[in-house]
Amino acid sequence: MAILDVLVYPDPALRVVAEKVTVFDDKLRKLISDMWETMYLSKGIGLAAPQVGMRARIVVIDWEGSRFALVNPRITEEEGEERAEEGCLSFPGIYEEIARPNKIKVIYQDEYGCQHEDEIEGFLARVFCHEIDHLDAKLMIDRLSRLKRAFIKKKMERKAKAAV
Ligand code: NI
Repeated sequence: MAILDVLVYPDPALRVVAEKVTVFDDKLRKLISDMWETMYLSKGIGLAAPQVGMRARIVVIDWEGSRFALVNPRITEEEGEERAEEGCLSFPGIYEEIARPNKIKVIYQDEYGCQHEDEIEGFLARVFCHEIDHLDAKLMIDRLSRLKRAFIKKKMERKAKAAV
């Protein structure tokens, strides 16, 4: 296994829409295990492939022992709305209250290409929505007010400049 670099906003790779996975081979499974390793080391509860610079529709999630590796996930139904604080490994130190559905139906494939359908509720539904957003190049700041988004953007850009 290998530890991958987690890209931080405003890295342009975070704004690239990921492509559907069509080949379910050892290379895919190696990438997924590297993503697990990277997520655990970063103390995250979810990680999407674009966050490690891969243009593939892959997500790993582990929230309180509920472990999922999602390939080509798609939300087919959404219900309700809940506001809660969330963070993102690509926005270190930023936590914001965001509205998400509190119940979803999701279709995905596993690392061998088998299709699954699950109903997910509560905070875990939030994690699914957040990570699947990454595959469509959508970030948590896109779901904030314009003012808050501008503030965080500026803060992150200043931090990136200081790091160079
Ligand atoms: Ni994220």
